Amino acid sequence: VLQELAGKTAVVTGGASGIGRAMGVRFAQEGMRVVLADVVADSLDATVAELTERGHDVTGVVTDVTKYDSVEALREGAVATYGAVHVLCNNAGVGSGAEGHVWEHELSDWRWALDVNVWGVIHGLNAFLPHMLEHGEAGHVVNTSSGNGGISPIPSTPVYAVTKASVTMISECLYEQLRQLDADIGASVLYPGPNMLRTGLYEAWRHRPDEYAKERPRTTPYATIEDVEEMMRKAGVDVQYTPVEEVAARVVDAIRARDFWILPPSERTDEQIQARADSMLKRENPAYLQVYAG
Ligand SMILES: NC(=O)c1ccc[n+]([C@@H]2O[C@H](COP(=O)([O-])OP(=O)(O)OC[C@H]3O[C@@H](n4cnc5c(N)ncnc54)[C@H](O)[C@@H]3O)[C@@H](O)[C@H]2O)c1
Repeated sequence: VLQELAGKTAVVTGGASGIGRAMGVRFAQEGMRVVLADVVADSLDATVAELTERGHDVTGVVTDVTKYDSVEALREGAVATYGAVHVLCNNAGVGSGAEGHVWEHELSDWRWALDVNVWGVIHGLNAFLPHMLEHGEAGHVVNTSSGNGGISPIPSTPVYAVTKASVTMISECLYEQLRQLDADIGASVLYPGPNMLRTGLYEAWRHRPDEYAKERPRTTPYATIEDVEEMMRKAGVDVQYTPVEEVAARVVDAIRARDFWILPPSERTDEQIQARADSMLKRENPAYLQVYAG
């Protein structure tokens, strides 16, 4: 088990901003050597410069998690700089920018979000796990899911929910396969929260690559964080924010405790889990989805 983090190496994708950045900061505060990977070079440079100035041992590697070659280059860069990698956080993620009904979403919306949120995780596992198993030192993999899809979907966001359901499933299988191997590598699935988070996620569309360009202009503006707040309020949620530092602290605790579920205590989350499980157990149609139908 990875108890002593000081001197160990962590790689965090989507590390330039938000939750990834906060995990990087926290790992550095624990004395880890940190490799931050992100596709947005200028924001990665700014984050690395800031953390280096604070005295942390941080390296940035511009990485596109949708491309396997790029993730392999990330591993090679990390190993060349620090030697063994002990902690891998597959965290890069985007909202899809899809509008309308599930059958109206553009194929490029599906492709972009699936490539980043799902293929990004697969690429991370394939590129890093053989290395982590081979060096044999204790390690840990954290995959960032979301309550939206990882627990139950917000029905107005099918693409994102599908990607995060996949991240939960990959993580469960990974956990069990590592356990069966008796490998000294833990696996966790991270549900950031329990409340809303102020991160760049709502602005992800600004960096949407040309290869996934939208096929037609949107008919409504992209939802801002304020719009989402409003939607939650209408659904009866008492809107609050969770600091990203709190999420990062939970990640570090889970690595040390080798906990699989990084699922902060929340009555609302527990109700969602219960309602979905009850619906399945009782073979009742999913009434619990109406909460977020808005
Ligand atoms: N913010 C929330 O409310 C929330 C809730 C649940 C889950 N999440 C998940 O948390 C993770 C982190 O998101 P965040 O909220 O910190 O948002 P964020 O936008 O601040 O950070 C995500 C980072 O991923 C990077 N990224 C995007 N595409 C990439 C690619 N192809 N290759 C490498 N990096 C790429 C972005 O440039 C950005 O820096 C995501 O997986 C997100 O889905 C966020």
